[in-house]
Amino acid sequence: MDGTSFDVTGKVAVITGAGGVICGAMARAMAKAGMKVALLDLFLDRAQETAEEIAAAGGQSAAVQANVLDKESLAAAREAVIARFGRVDVLINGAGGNKKEASTGPELSFFDMPIDALKWVFDLNVMGAVLTTQAFGRDIAASEGVVINIASMASIIPLTNTIAYSGAKAAVANFTQWMAVHFNQNYSEKIRVNAIAPGFLLTEQNRFLMQKEDGSPTPRGEKVLAKTPMGRYGAPEEMAGPVLWLCSDAASFVNGAIIPIDGGFSAYWGV
Ligand SMILES: NC(=O)c1ccc[n+]([C@@H]2O[C@H](COP(=O)([O-])OP(=O)(O)OC[C@H]3O[C@@H](n4cnc5c(N)ncnc54)[C@H](O)[C@@H]3O)[C@@H](O)[C@H]2O)c1
Repeated sequence: MDGTSFDVTGKVAVITGAGGVICGAMARAMAKAGMKVALLDLFLDRAQETAEEIAAAGGQSAAVQANVLDKESLAAAREAVIARFGRVDVLINGAGGNKKEASTGPELSFFDMPIDALKWVFDLNVMGAVLTTQAFGRDIAASEGVVINIASMASIIPLTNTIAYSGAKAAVANFTQWMAVHFNQNYSEKIRVNAIAPGFLLTEQNRFLMQKEDGSPTPRGEKVLAKTPMGRYGAPEEMAGPVLWLCSDAASFVNGAIIPIDGGFSAYWGV
């Protein structure tokens, strides 16, 4: 290893939320680069759709049902992954998201926010990553592998409206740094734990905040585009390149980092 190889051929990756927009795109790119990809999702049919696309392109993957909030489900998924691929080199904690009932807006004040919705967002984004890392962490320690979490622009400075999502993603960034140190100090100095912080993508998760029903931008959407120096939303596929780099030896000294992939959003105050 000399820190310059981008080759990831043959590495085994586990991706949670692999039936989703961003992690599906990552999974397809990783399989195309020669990785073997275990596609974990709460909804098996979503993971299977990604697996079919990967198979059609000549890649190797396996769809596995898993709930990142259920230790038994994660243990069963781990058994299935080890039975199929024998090891885990990369873990991507991709399952996450927000919901309307946990965001303030014209119809929902901060004072009336339902506790269940707030907890749902914290659980999915934070506990989901923690429990999944517990389930696969020994395999990562054994392979001296890589963990990649999905943070957000909201990890750095909170976004308006999304109280629970902002707090949860700040915790994901903090957990990333904590876990990098913990794994190095306790298991191997070669393990690397990083996060990517995607900028603004237009997906089902945030469309209600960014776009009106007729497709024109909401005032929030207009502000996001104005504060993104590149002047556009990102595409899910654009998250994949930096993730492949983080999986490879070319990132051999990148550890505990939160990498923005945001078209410059986090570099610009807007003035
Ligand atoms: N879309 C964006 O603009 C954006 C920006 C920054 C960060 N992110 C983060 O990127 C990640 C992926 O986002 P996305 O937009 O692709 O979301 P998505 O909703 O398209 O995909 C999420 C996937 O996770 C799965 N999932 C939900 N709950 C689960 C559970 N309990 N166990 C296992 N799987 C579960 C869903 O079935 C779905 O397939 C999330 O962590 C999200 O917070 C998204």
